[in-house]
Amino acid sequence: MTFLRNCWYLAGWSREVGPDTLLPRRLLDEPVVFYRNADGNIAALHDRCPHRFAPLSSGKLADGTLYCGYHGIGFGTDGQCVENPHGPIVRSLCVQAYPVRESQHGIWIWMGDPDRAEATPVPDLQHFHDVPETAYSNGYLHCAANYMLFVDNILDLTHADTLHPDTLGGGSYTRTKVKVSEHDKGMSLQWHCWDEVPQPNMRLNGFTADTADSWTEIEWQAPSIMTLRNGAVPAGTPREDGKNFLVAHIMTPETETTTHYFFAATRDFELANRELNDRIAATRASIFTREDKPMIELQQERMQGQDFWSLKPVLLRSDEGAVKVRRKVDALIHAETAGRKDAPQSEPANLAS
Ligand code: FES
Ligand SMILES: [Fe+2]
Repeated sequence: MTFLRNCWYLAGWSREVGPDTLLPRRLLDEPVVFYRNADGNIAALHDRCPHRFAPLSSGKLADGTLYCGYHGIGFGTDGQCVENPHGPIVRSLCVQAYPVRESQHGIWIWMGDPDRAEATPVPDLQHFHDVPETAYSNGYLHCAANYMLFVDNILDLTHADTLHPDTLGGGSYTRTKVKVSEHDKGMSLQWHCWDEVPQPNMRLNGFTADTADSWTEIEWQAPSIMTLRNGAVPAGTPREDGKNFLVAHIMTPETETTTHYFFAATRDFELANRELNDRIAATRASIFTREDKPMIELQQERMQGQDFWSLKPVLLRSDEGAVKVRRKVDALIHAETAGRKDAPQSEPANLAS
């Protein structure tokens, strides 16, 4: 499978890589090892020794040098050999080093043309700047399905009415037409559910009115980064009186059929309430682990390795956002692999120009 390469992918959460950690992670079907140099800065190397192909993640880290665990050749964070116990250091004794950044609690990797990484900012998950730890949580799930199926899942929230009837359901997503708009940074999707039946989870969070005005607004950036804002007020009440929940859903391909699913959450109220923070995080993780993940993994299984479009999915009105995003991602990949001859007119901010 071809993946978009000239963009930043979230590879892990910062806490996953301590001072002595060697974190192996397959990304875009390539093995990568993450670690910290002597100054604590994150580094990422292709996780295969150029000598006899042992995984460098099975080696040892000493003073920021990564030593292969098989015959002891040492590599610097730029991938060049710095120590060869068996002979001279020759230029071919090197591994690929990937541009990496640490930002917003995450480790971001660039797996495309390294010369284009510098000019491209890491995706800005605006909601998560300067958030106290009592109003922030993040997590990770390893999932056995293609990353675009998880993107589809977020971009068609009508599934909540069927798949999550006791929490996020209630029918309001299905009764509301999603508004989809493309812009220079990606795509926006909005469900404004006015004068509707409150979702069951609103009741769990203390919402008592009979009817609600609720909003769910998603910002998508290529290829698979989404931030979601959602809140509600009693019907007819100004939206400014409402509370907002903010969630980032970020899917990084591991292979064609497996995905690293990262999520983070915050809110704009009761920022010091740790108990509330823990409860919201546990509820969200439970919904996704028990309901979304198994369904999407079954979807993948039933597709039996066939391409999504080749199966000719019967599309519904609610698929508008997901279909537009798939077409956009396909066009970006095509433009990248075809020397950008037919690059789309506007590109997400995450992409190098
Ligand atoms: S395989 Fe790495 S040093 Fe030999
Ligand atoms: Fe869901």
